[in-house]
Amino acid sequence: MADGVETQQHAIETILLEERRYPPPEDFASQANAQPEIYDRDFDEFWETEGRERVTWFEPFDQLYEWEPPYAKWYLGGKLNVCFNCVDRHVEAGNGDKVAYYWEGEPEDERRELTFSDLQVEVVRFANGLKKLGVKKGTPVAIYMGMVPELPIAMLACTRLGAPHTVVFGGFSAESLSGRMNDMECEYLITQDEGWRNGGKVPLKQNADEALEQSPTVKQSVVLRRTGEGPVMKEGRDVWWHELVEGESDDPQSCPCEPMDSEDLLYLLYTSGTTAKPKGIVHTTAGYLVGVASTHYYIFDIKPQSVYWCAADVGWVTGHSYIVYGPLCNGTTGVLYEGVPNYPDKDRWWAIVERYKVDTLYTAPTAIRSHMKWGPEHAEKHDLSSLRLLGTVGEPINPEAWIWYREHIGGDRTPVVDTWWQTETGMILITPLPGVTTLKPGSATKPFPTVDAAVYDEQGSEVGPGGGGYLVLRRPWPAMLRGIYNDDERYRETYWSKYEDVYFAGDGARIDEDGDFWLLGRVDDVMNVSGHRISTIEVESALVDHQKVAEAAVCGRADPTTGQAIVAFVSLKGGDEGSVEMLEELRDHVATKIGKIARPANIVFTPELPKTRSGKIMRRLLRDVSEHRKLGDTTTLADPTVVEEIKERAESEKGAAEE
Ligand code: WTA
Repeated sequence: MADGVETQQHAIETILLEERRYPPPEDFASQANAQPEIYDRDFDEFWETEGRERVTWFEPFDQLYEWEPPYAKWYLGGKLNVCFNCVDRHVEAGNGDKVAYYWEGEPEDERRELTFSDLQVEVVRFANGLKKLGVKKGTPVAIYMGMVPELPIAMLACTRLGAPHTVVFGGFSAESLSGRMNDMECEYLITQDEGWRNGGKVPLKQNADEALEQSPTVKQSVVLRRTGEGPVMKEGRDVWWHELVEGESDDPQSCPCEPMDSEDLLYLLYTSGTTAKPKGIVHTTAGYLVGVASTHYYIFDIKPQSVYWCAADVGWVTGHSYIVYGPLCNGTTGVLYEGVPNYPDKDRWWAIVERYKVDTLYTAPTAIRSHMKWGPEHAEKHDLSSLRLLGTVGEPINPEAWIWYREHIGGDRTPVVDTWWQTETGMILITPLPGVTTLKPGSATKPFPTVDAAVYDEQGSEVGPGGGGYLVLRRPWPAMLRGIYNDDERYRETYWSKYEDVYFAGDGARIDEDGDFWLLGRVDDVMNVSGHRISTIEVESALVDHQKVAEAAVCGRADPTTGQAIVAFVSLKGGDEGSVEMLEELRDHVATKIGKIARPANIVFTPELPKTRSGKIMRRLLRDVSEHRKLGDTTTLADPTVVEEIKERAESEKGAAEE
């Protein structure tokens, strides 16, 4: 793949230049949960032990796993409940008074502290309420909320009843929401009136209303009152959360945790692929829970007194695995923050770290680069000495940002773990272990113990040290996806067709002389904007859906803060030239179809798109244009002059709609 080659060349340079090394500090290493011997452990022994120790079973499993490529099953024969593991058992063990979440609303005066007992009370009452509405084992439920405690409470209530959920990120549009609810055939929706974001309000219920018009399977919706601004409640369909739970018992016995089979569906989470239709990634119960709890314990070196903050949104997989299920299973105290990092000011995060004495912070490179842009003075206003470990996820981190994070946030003291994984993998798979690994800024270093990751070339041969190619996984792992919901063919095609019986991750990677992995970004038509996956085709479909658009091609270009920014090339019907108004209209249109995160940063109007003789749009050339590079090979183009013309237009319109 041509652009793979380019990023790889860039990466070779990065690796050559990056010679800084950070061995684990001695005092960290000596007390770390993961010691060097962990890498010698036997695959079966490791996961059998983790399975027994990390979770509590109603009935023990009798077979560790079964691998019939491309489908795996784990902990066969076992029975357990996720909510029991995340909530009830901690209360039963006498840890009910321990804080589960410190929550801060975006408006500064709103704070809540929920202990594990509080969490149990809330979950039981809400689960009883859901039960009254008719939710039971196997009922598919959609959740569309902001970052409020009721979001994990809703997820846990579903798992208590054995009802699989799909959480839809609150930044997605009504259409995205209804698309997901229809695919899963959801029967209930849990939402809220409005969310707070950047000092403004997000009309969640209004979006939900629009979505519900297109989602005939949904019978009822539950609405949490957050801002109090009265949405229109539809008689017979919508019920208030607070009215639903009124008078419901909070006695755990009144709503026992449903014993679930290890392989029962836990949730679907939709993610972008190389077509316009998001994929419903399937995660089941036991393997997922063991996988996330185990990785959380070792990688973040979790101790009973840890105060851990993963500053992602629960609506993404990072939030599912490392705000809700992993940490709660481990009985960890966490922080949950509703809003943006710069509200009301750019030091908000650091005030939170100081207030709760956060010792572990896990976030995305794009956030780190924003803080970097705002300057270190905001962090300097606060005492961050409680921090002992930092983590990143979601996209490759450039060494400068890594170093900045360590120096200005970690006091040049804390290890930084760069963790690679995906919605599909469920759990972290390539990562340093903070007490063991010598860190290299920009490298995710080594596969987690027992994980068999490798880099393959186009022909499927393993690439040795110093080489680059495609990241693959050759052995199953407990939290791996169990398929794409209702789409076996797409599952096989997407992940298992490039190489036989080997999982193809869709990422480019290099291995250095020490065997450390350097992730290079996507090799398919998926963009990574602020750590969020968006497919080029999804945005193109949204654009051509507009009545004035004849054709559209979308690509990502490098962006210093968001990693990639979306650039669209659009030709309008009837040879129309385009205008600034049209540009804004199209950006809004994409926001309505998918969500604001997918809104192109720039749109270039062009009478024609560069195509090969077989009619395929040449995105590589568009990427060259949008990144102002010398153009690559244009000889396969049907009409090579087209791209020159686009180039001129792009340059004359450069920056027209940059944010
Ligand atoms: C990218 C997020 C480099 C990668 C957990 C992957 C990374 C996609 C890293 C998955 C990392 C994630 N270094 N790239 N540490 N972590 N990625 O499904 O391209 O939202 O395929 O899961 O993010 O994104 P997803």
